[in-house]
Amino acid sequence: MTDTPRTTAERIDAFTQRRDAAHTGNVKSVENQHKRGKQTARERIEALLDEDSFQEIDEFARHHNHQFGMENNRPDGDGVVCGLGTIEGKTVAVFAHDFTVLGGSLAEANGRKIVKVQKLAIKLGCPIIGINDSGGARIQEGVGSIALFAEIFRLNVASSGVIPQISLIMGPSAGGAVYSPALTDVTIMVDQTSHMYITGPDVIKTVTGEEVGHEELGGGRTNNTVSGNAHYLASDEDDALNYVRDLLSFLPQNNLDPADADEFESDLSTGPADEALDSLMPDSPSQPYDILDVVTTVLDDAEFLQVSELFAPNVVTGFGRVEGVSVGVIANQPMQLAGTLDIDASEKAARFVRLADAFNIPILTFVDVPGFLPGTDQEFSGIIRRGAKLIYAYGEATVPLITLITRKAYGGAYCVMGSKQLGADINLAWPSAQIAVMGAQGAANIVYRRKLKAAGEAGEDVDALREELIQDYEDALLNPYLAAEEGYIDAVIKPSETRNRIVRGLRALKNKHVDAPARKHGNIPL
Ligand code: HXC
Repeated sequence: MTDTPRTTAERIDAFTQRRDAAHTGNVKSVENQHKRGKQTARERIEALLDEDSFQEIDEFARHHNHQFGMENNRPDGDGVVCGLGTIEGKTVAVFAHDFTVLGGSLAEANGRKIVKVQKLAIKLGCPIIGINDSGGARIQEGVGSIALFAEIFRLNVASSGVIPQISLIMGPSAGGAVYSPALTDVTIMVDQTSHMYITGPDVIKTVTGEEVGHEELGGGRTNNTVSGNAHYLASDEDDALNYVRDLLSFLPQNNLDPADADEFESDLSTGPADEALDSLMPDSPSQPYDILDVVTTVLDDAEFLQVSELFAPNVVTGFGRVEGVSVGVIANQPMQLAGTLDIDASEKAARFVRLADAFNIPILTFVDVPGFLPGTDQEFSGIIRRGAKLIYAYGEATVPLITLITRKAYGGAYCVMGSKQLGADINLAWPSAQIAVMGAQGAANIVYRRKLKAAGEAGEDVDALREELIQDYEDALLNPYLAAEEGYIDAVIKPSETRNRIVRGLRALKNKHVDAPARKHGNIPL
């Protein structure tokens, strides 16, 4: 006799027990998880989604591995929780690695679950959120685990630019577990409790002899500030989940649906915040100011959600709303590296332009850039190839593009930062704009090199002459009017008129439509 249930009541009872056991999991492992300041997969999903909205799928999926004693270790769900739910009433797909089950390791059975939910998300046209807390490929498995990783990656690629894909790293994300996040749109890490690396400290020590700790190698801070692999550093798990909810509020469900617009009462009259812009710009071009003061004046309720705030802070990227409608913002930040574009800033901005463009979100560009950052480090690391990504990103963008030059727009950096010639629709400039090949100091030293040399040889005061020539150059070229004369700038505006012009510009561009010629795909410099 077995205790196989025979009656309906017994069957329902057995089912309930089995489901409860799957949900409760291994009590000791769950305790360990909590002790580390980490929630379980189900707790995280519950905190992320609207109350009672989660519909789990494949909770009884199990592996069929009979090696290494695994035949006696076949937990229901196989260490990943998957399903559908809602955030602010809108459908999302979600999968969460359960570190309390076999270290959240990826295997054939749970890999299939993730693939299923990825396919569902594409079919439904809804965002997908992956919560990672995994030791990577399940070591006891053979090719099944790594094969499923590859399939997940392929679906990440197929989803890219079609549905928003967001990754949360809430524990280890090692080996193969790093590449799905890397292929998604935005990755969020939790400070101190999350780690992301291809090979961990032990392997590195064995192979290269280097000694490095988990946190230094792949902690949230390292990935947010040094490598730029992650785009938000959350103080704890709740902060991370809230960021996802905020972020999704700016994004549409997919590339064909518009993002939801908030109710917003329009007011185009000039208020104190607008007027403050008239005195924001320092008289000296070398003195910094905070570009966020300009950005937030334009955005509804001054609300701005930065993406990659801690990486390459010389360029600022993020989402806000104008008259309730989502916009993407790219802005040079004069307070960091004088707002120059280096490799990191170029790649950060390029990726953000493509994110906004893929999901039909208009782009506002704020320009105050003295040029690309000079130096052997930058040249040897490929600033030519990597800086070109930003040109490519703007050049292929078809969403409404409005660019405002507040001060410097020199040389190549003028071209790159949403210039008219790269395809911007409305180009504005403040009277303080300086649109030229380079700044006055550099220009005078090159253009007047012979004159200055001759003056030196004749015993004249070279410094005084240089100052005079710099002044001449500034007076002649460092203004917005030459560009305005040529139509490269559509309007020179008072700073206090900025919000009014951008709001009306976005209204006018609402129905912008660009038909791109057929091609398989472009070949962005990588
Ligand atoms: C099977 C795993 C596992 C894995 C962890 N576990 N990782 N089981 N496969 N990949 C199990 C452990 O055996 C342990 O089981 C439980 O999960 C908890 O792990 P601990 O080591 O006790 O936890 P912790 O000390 O927090 O360390 C976590 C960790 C470490 C840093 C992730 O477990 C680790 O280094 N794991 C291996 C990482 C790795 O090298 N993965 C393979 C990458 S290769 P018990 O039963 O003891 O509780 C890869 C190739 C794919 O991914 C390439 C595709 C492109």
